[in-house]
Amino acid sequence: MITTDQKNIIKATVPVLKENGVLLTDHFYKRMFVHNPELKNVFNLSNQQNNRQQTALAMAILAYAENIENPAVLMPAVHGIGQKHVSLDIRPEHYIIVGKHLIASISEVLGEAATPEILDAWEVAYNQLAQIMSGHENRLYSEKVKIKGGWSGWKPFVVKEKVIESSEITSFHLYPSDQGPVAGFAPGQYLSIRLFIPELNLLQPRQYSISSAPNGLYYRISVKKETALNLNPDGLISNRLHDFVNIGDILEVTAPAGSFTLTADNDHPVVFISGGVGQTPLISMLEELIKSGSKKPATWIHGCRNKKAHAFKETIEYWSGEKKAVKKHIFYNETDQESESENQYKGWVDLNILGDELLTPNTEYYICGPGPFITKHYTELIAKGIQAQSIHFEEFGPQTLHLN
Ligand SMILES: Cc1cc2nc3c(=O)[nH]c(=O)nc-3n(C[C@H](O)[C@H](O)[C@H](O)COP(=O)(O)OP(=O)(O)OC[C@H]3O[C@@H](n4cnc5c(N)ncnc54)[C@H](O)[C@@H]3O)c2cc1C
Ligand code: HEM
Repeated sequence: MITTDQKNIIKATVPVLKENGVLLTDHFYKRMFVHNPELKNVFNLSNQQNNRQQTALAMAILAYAENIENPAVLMPAVHGIGQKHVSLDIRPEHYIIVGKHLIASISEVLGEAATPEILDAWEVAYNQLAQIMSGHENRLYSEKVKIKGGWSGWKPFVVKEKVIESSEITSFHLYPSDQGPVAGFAPGQYLSIRLFIPELNLLQPRQYSISSAPNGLYYRISVKKETALNLNPDGLISNRLHDFVNIGDILEVTAPAGSFTLTADNDHPVVFISGGVGQTPLISMLEELIKSGSKKPATWIHGCRNKKAHAFKETIEYWSGEKKAVKKHIFYNETDQESESENQYKGWVDLNILGDELLTPNTEYYICGPGPFITKHYTELIAKGIQAQSIHFEEFGPQTLHLN
């Protein structure tokens, strides 16, 4: 049990951690990968290059230190992180390794300022947090194995179809290779897949949203080929999937996870706002609404570079035209025409030109795209008087936005 004195020490170290948070976690990751190189197979090493993972971990530790008196307020965050951890097969024994390197890093980064009392207090506090988190994650694993076709950890799936959806997005249809049932999921959830990278001699995991509604047969993922830009190299896994993974190949997959899911148990209107490949979880949600005959009025707002890069164009045209199941607004930022057809616009997604039709009471908004895209539309909706709890969003990377 953590003592009152130790809680006071933790609270007193918050300013120091705030100042050194990313430095500390940066040191921690370097240390951990030297002593436990097997964990390089578990982490997304590209996220280590851009500091996003270090920032996410530092923010989580700070939030914990600030709430040490009442860790229960952290449960929503513990649940969100837990989804990512479970999707990456993080187990209680990993917490012991992380704890060892975290405490050693506090000692090494703070030097003499890290007194034995501070280190003891942090060890007790870390173990408390680790217990809360791994306890919650164990419950999430149990839920996954209980459902029909459910599993925990990595399971082989076979690629039975590979479909080119646009100049940069290709879909893969993944069937359980044991030919058993495929577990259900909540539209909006993602899978992790991992590939062995011979040049690195390592496995590397990545998350991909399931881009189809549950169909009882397979999961569809739709992957954007991340090509080199300026000095940044080609994306490691997306290029390999596009160029080398073919029909008949086996991918290791973890069970669907994530809490960016649709609230389907009412008739409230829903507005989907996506940029580029950010449409994948939203396509799954929309398909499920249409398949289930939902009465929710749905609006689809999507922006991408140009018509060639526009994936699922025909599907949305069919659902909005013949089926009349959704209203669409499409933005192309590379096009010569001002407006080639109704509800198609030139430029970046701009909610303002769509007027008040998006502001019907009780509307729920689902946003997915790059971080700045989410921030822009979230901020604009808030400025129009929309309540934060009606706006749901997901970042395709470590969760670094703290908007609501
Ligand atoms: C919940 C969730 C759902 C997702 N769903 C989808 C989806 O449905 N479809 C989809 O396509 N993606 C999705 N993603 C993103 C996906 O997981 C991958 O991040 C994406 O495919 C890129 O992976 P990669 O291995 O190709 O690129 P990475 O190798 O991870 O590189 C990513 C970026 O970092 C840059 N980079 C790499 N190394 C360096 C370096 N040393 N210095 C500077 N920059 C560098 C690369 O140029 C690239 O732009 C999702 C992510 C999450 C978290
Ligand atoms: C108290 C301990 C821990 C805290 C506070 C913590 C916090 C976090 C946070 C905030 C994220 C980002 C979540 C997201 O992107 O949605 C994350 C992701 C992750 N965590 Fe943890 N974590 C802890 C323990 C661990 C352990 C023990 C492991 C395994 C060794 C681990 C491995 C990972 C991995 C692999 C990711 C995804 C990284 C990526 O995609 O780049 N974490 N964690």
